Amino acid sequence: MNPFYITTPIYYINAQPHVGHAYTTMVADAIARSRRLLGDDVFFLTGTDEHGQKVERAAQKAGLKTEVFAEQVAGTFRQMCRDLNISNDDFIRTTEPRHHRASQELWRRVAANGDIYKGDYEGWYCTVDEIFVPETQLVDGKCPTCGNKVERLKEESYYFRLSKYQQPLLDFYAKNPDFLQPAFRLNEIRTFIEAGLQDLSISRTSFHWGIPVPDDPKHVMYVWFDALTNYLTALGFGSADHRRGADLSGPRERKDEDLLGPRVERYWPVVTHLVGKEIVRQHALYWPAFLMSAHLTPPRRIIAHGWWLMGGAKMSKSIGNVARYQDYVAVFGVDALRYFVMREMPLGQDANFSDEGILARFNADLANDLGNVVSRTTTMIQRYCDCVVPASPQEARDDLDRSLEKSIDAAIESVKTNFGVFQITVALQATWDLIRSVNQYIVQREPWTLAKKPEARSKLDATLYHAADALRVTAALIDPVMPDAAERIRRMLGLSQEQWTGLKADTLRAGTRLGTIEPLFPRIEKTVEELRSMDEKPIGGAGEPAVPGATQAVGAGTTPAEDNRISIDEFMKVELRVAKVLEAEAVPKSRKLVKMKVDVGTERRTIVAGIAEAYQPEQLVGRTIAIVFNLKPAKLMGIESNGMVLAASVDGGKPILVAFDEPVPPGARVR
Ligand code: MSP
Repeated sequence: MNPFYITTPIYYINAQPHVGHAYTTMVADAIARSRRLLGDDVFFLTGTDEHGQKVERAAQKAGLKTEVFAEQVAGTFRQMCRDLNISNDDFIRTTEPRHHRASQELWRRVAANGDIYKGDYEGWYCTVDEIFVPETQLVDGKCPTCGNKVERLKEESYYFRLSKYQQPLLDFYAKNPDFLQPAFRLNEIRTFIEAGLQDLSISRTSFHWGIPVPDDPKHVMYVWFDALTNYLTALGFGSADHRRGADLSGPRERKDEDLLGPRVERYWPVVTHLVGKEIVRQHALYWPAFLMSAHLTPPRRIIAHGWWLMGGAKMSKSIGNVARYQDYVAVFGVDALRYFVMREMPLGQDANFSDEGILARFNADLANDLGNVVSRTTTMIQRYCDCVVPASPQEARDDLDRSLEKSIDAAIESVKTNFGVFQITVALQATWDLIRSVNQYIVQREPWTLAKKPEARSKLDATLYHAADALRVTAALIDPVMPDAAERIRRMLGLSQEQWTGLKADTLRAGTRLGTIEPLFPRIEKTVEELRSMDEKPIGGAGEPAVPGATQAVGAGTTPAEDNRISIDEFMKVELRVAKVLEAEAVPKSRKLVKMKVDVGTERRTIVAGIAEAYQPEQLVGRTIAIVFNLKPAKLMGIESNGMVLAASVDGGKPILVAFDEPVPPGARVR
């Protein structure tokens, strides 16, 4: 079995996952599944990038300990994997001890090679992208990548001798022209390098949420040095086992065999890093340079995809124009979301994420094209053949059958080839060409007319056999992109999963008994406007997903017990709203209570809250909080309280107020 290792970027945890993160993860999943269908030995990694100043600040803003905050948001990314039917073999968090060990191991190796020295850094830094920005690259004083404000840094820093790797990198690209795809991105990197590489600052002293530099814990590693190493961590690099016997004492030619971890030996460097185009430089330039310095082989391949745009701009948390993947899954289903994003965005290009686009594709491609083939074929076998796939004797076949067989084999070839070069969009086009051919074949044959003529029985049988055979192959071809739909089609046909190796036309076993027939993608008869204004699960909620639910840990495995769950209607009865604290004073003779006057948009109210042990009244004034707006008034220490403040507490500890990531006006509904 060929080893095949595929990774997604590890996601920053300053934001909740959105369609952008979901996209990369779903594409990587489809690639991983396609390789498993081809018989490869696949290792598929995703995870979260949890260090850096940005995370430290986001946690402070949310009023949480950084560890607690990290745990919660990492939980939402793990949940995303479950929600989207992602088949990852591991989920790495950079805060895990195994990753600290691996990053420190890489650092030591680079240092042992003489490539790290101490200096002073003075310059600009973008905390959003976690990159140092040379003065000459600032655009109107802002980060050229994300357009956000940059900060002036002046601190002691370790440097990596990136300049030393200028020529080795160019030589490496020349020897490995397929290293970075699409190819034009490699030219961009070459041009960048040819302009002259500066050494890279790789440590920070002004904050502590990071991995300590070996032997100098005042410094934490630059977040990208740590983050990139995750790809090795998950293979066991730096673990006690793998270090056994490895000589780390000084610079020498080390070979990959030093990495005793069996997974490193198996999956490195046959790795494909799938990344968004904005992080190509880190992957195609810094990462190979770090690895060369550590005497490790650079990765086999980097695939850079484009951006999902919303309203013309990159969908991103910092702009606030994000689409929640959960809304689309709720309305269209996981497979339809997977299909839409992979069908719509050709590799390397940008694409618009629109409600109209997904609804149109759902009804045209899934309900109509695919849904029709499935329902026509299965219901006709049920009606005319008593639920058993008939045989197609050679003598009953004609050119039309043979041409369909050819289309099936051509589709298989095209899908395999295009998956092999990561062109999933083209593979799906080829599959839909086949689906349309089958529909045409059925229309041309008119089985419903053949069924009325006893002398046409063998033609009817042949037609239904070939249609079912095409459907079997279709299920196999859509399997990586829509695993659930593929499985449902197979269940209707009474078949089990088929590998891509050996997949070919005309191999369906006559006599196969169908399973229960069900509608695959029932047409959605609503308009986009109707879908957007549904009370339950509306789509198009572009906007900032809220900070993780502070009243309940969102970490992995916190699904409430089945019988404790409430419906969305029940939840919506609770009106949560934004309020601004205008005045606050301690309630006399009470240890816990604070009396606050708050602006709730439409009026001012008095609320009494049990937060005095955690907040001084003056800390509360001016703060934006979340309240239960429609709670019946209650008297606390003789004062009437109109509403309840939302706060979290860990294990009954001190209350931590729910906060908002961006300014929100009083009265805004929280849901
Ligand atoms: N933590 C770094 C990556 C470190 S990898 C060693 C990072 N994280 S991120 O949370 O910002 O995620 C970036 C990745 O999410 C992108 O490279 C891309 O894969 C995906 N996307 C985020 N927004 C996206 C779009 N609007 N469109 C497409 N993909 C998007 O960078």
